Amino acid sequence: MNYSKIAGTGSYLPNRVVTNSELQTRIDTSDEWIVSRTGIEARHIAAEGEKTTDLAEHAARAAMAAANVNADDIDLIIVATTTPDKVFPSTACLLQARLGVKQGAAFDVQAVCTGFVYALSIADKFVASGQHRCALVVGAEIFSRLLDWNDRRTCVLFGDGAGAVVLKASKEPGILSSHLYADGSMGHILQVDGGVSAGKLADNPYLQMDGAAVFRLATRVLHECATEALRHNGFTVEDLDWLVPHQANMRIINSTTDKLNLPRERVITTVAQHGNTSAASVPLALDTAVRDQRIKPGQLVLIEGVGGGMTWGSVLLRF
Ligand code: UT7
Repeated sequence: MNYSKIAGTGSYLPNRVVTNSELQTRIDTSDEWIVSRTGIEARHIAAEGEKTTDLAEHAARAAMAAANVNADDIDLIIVATTTPDKVFPSTACLLQARLGVKQGAAFDVQAVCTGFVYALSIADKFVASGQHRCALVVGAEIFSRLLDWNDRRTCVLFGDGAGAVVLKASKEPGILSSHLYADGSMGHILQVDGGVSAGKLADNPYLQMDGAAVFRLATRVLHECATEALRHNGFTVEDLDWLVPHQANMRIINSTTDKLNLPRERVITTVAQHGNTSAASVPLALDTAVRDQRIKPGQLVLIEGVGGGMTWGSVLLRF
């Protein structure tokens, strides 16, 4: 039996940090409101001219170094992004060229904040099938360019960044299960309506969100996903070493954790300093906890996400 296993992680954040204090000088908001409703204190924002592929490349190179692989080893690149640099080529193909990878497949996955969970699940199927041996799975976003910076209901919530993992074929189990879901009938509660069409920008190019509806869905499905992943593998909450949830809002994370009866010390959170980086949020949080040595080889880790689509899902893995 073939499995896939994470061999290395990496991440990257743009240099510029925008604090709540800075935002409150620009729009009608306050540090107190943002922290009490979301837990977010600051977010990183890409520089003008900095591209999603740039962020992805930094994260990918860090993951490749950690996994001790080079461009000749990688035969699959999947980039989860909602903010590609171009309509096409895909960000994955742009990244492949940057890294000097000459073989294998490269494509993007679009599942918004669940993008990395989707991409990791897809990469696992490709590697476990034996068709590919070494995948680079990246979540990279410049969400700041989808925001109306005068809309205080949305612009305070998001940030930019990238995270990556190298997923290799293995005889020992790494990825144990993945469960993916979508409900397209709820797409309107979190969307960017606009796009390029017939040479023009059609409809509203900014992110629109029914925050309360997203909040309700997120707290329900993240709990369901976590319970399902553990039960499917015959584990209980006591067996779980770490939960690495999508980093959108501390209240959503705490609700999920408390409903599971999981001690909050076993949850990785980066939302305070990163904001919601969409598809980059889970791999950024994962890499943070791997590098500070909280997540150790052999530990049981549950990652889960929820986002536009609406989409949601989980991956349970032995690190
Ligand atoms: O990856 C998924 C992405 N999205 C999410 O995860 C978002 C999920 N939803 C949420 O996190 C929460 O619904 C929010 C943080 C977006 C909003 O929190 P809330 O407790 O549901 O606040 P609210 O929308 O009910 O707004 C309460 C008040 C409103 O004022 P009024 O109408 O009661 O006078 C808002 O206008 O807070 C006001 N408000 C703000 N005030 C200061 C909304 N945004 C801000 C702001 N600063 N940035």
